[in-house]
Amino acid sequence: MRLAHVVGARPNFMKVAPIISALDRASNVEQVLIHTGQHYDPSLSDDFLRDLEIPAPDVNLGVGSGSHAEQTGRIMIALERELDERRPDWVFTVGDVNSTLAASLVASKMGMPVAHVEAGLRSHDRSMPEEINRILTDRLSEALFTTEPSANQNLRNEGIDPSIVHFVGNVMIDTLDRYRARAARLDLPGTLGLEPGTYVLVTLHRPTNVDEPDRFAAILGALGEIASRYQVVFPVHPRTARNVKQFGLEGALGSLKALGAIPYLEFLCLMDQAGLVISDSGGIQEETTVLGIPCITVRLNTERPITITEGTNRLFDGAPEELPGLALEAITEERRPHRPALWDGHAAERIAEVTLNQLGRRVATTTRPGA
Ligand code: UD1
Repeated sequence: MRLAHVVGARPNFMKVAPIISALDRASNVEQVLIHTGQHYDPSLSDDFLRDLEIPAPDVNLGVGSGSHAEQTGRIMIALERELDERRPDWVFTVGDVNSTLAASLVASKMGMPVAHVEAGLRSHDRSMPEEINRILTDRLSEALFTTEPSANQNLRNEGIDPSIVHFVGNVMIDTLDRYRARAARLDLPGTLGLEPGTYVLVTLHRPTNVDEPDRFAAILGALGEIASRYQVVFPVHPRTARNVKQFGLEGALGSLKALGAIPYLEFLCLMDQAGLVISDSGGIQEETTVLGIPCITVRLNTERPITITEGTNRLFDGAPEELPGLALEAITEERRPHRPALWDGHAAERIAEVTLNQLGRRVATTTRPGA
């Protein structure tokens, strides 16, 4: 069976790593890794491939940044040629980035079945580009691997055939389990002069938080206020860094320990010893739930509700000025590690099992148009 994995952006890499590794153990599987080049800075791409021991991509389509249409279109054009040459039996996509949707559109139109890992998550907010990517990718896919019960329910509500839905758990937690001890040995808090258990780790990159100057300035102001009580460390995503410069907000970073974007192991090391995480990321909500670190998600909604009902996550949708109050309360909470069902470090093995058995049968019985 020939499989092509299509990845492109930072949050894809920790998801694909354990899947490639689990499927590598099967003798009858050939895997190809296609990097779209959506993320190209070493700090968002190569550093992750290295930390996560992902084999060098077989090809990098080098599409780079652009508007949503430009980026998605460029990926589609380049990927069509690549898939035409390589003719995989299944195309695997992960997550909800533009590369995920572009790959699903191209492959499904070429008659190649798509398997989507992290299917069914819904924020029910179509102003987020990721929500559109999720809905369409799931609709086009012929195998859907889910992480939490809400995802199974969302897919049922959308009328998707339950026989293609496989509740396997969370591959990102497979990666966290695999690298946690190695990350701890880096002792980044020590190097940065941070007191374990009492500092605040911040990440922000959503357009709704960082693309509008007044809102972004107010959020940085709130972080500055928190920094008068606790150390605040802030690895800055390139998009966020560009806006800090463009809006002239360098001064507002003064009281924070601002770093450039950091690789996976360093980030995990910082997260595991933080007293509180403030973020607008998707995956961090899940990682902090397993680590038991209080997490404030600066968003109106989440596609990962289990991190709230079972985990340490809470949404913050108030005015930025109210953030310090919530943060000072949350940081005093006890650490409360918890693993939702099937977040046990073995999700990728379950994906491999379904792939080898059920998806393998689909290959044996189907003739593709144009093949
Ligand atoms: C993308 C994903 C988002 C994910 C995030 C993680 C989509 C729609 N968004 O957002 O879901 O949470 O990745 O990082 O797919 N840039 C660089 N270097 C790079 C890549 C980007 O400087 O290597 C800058 C460019 O200015 C670019 C901007 O970041 O215009 C946005 O990049 P893009 O890939 O479009 O979206 P992200 O904000 O990274």
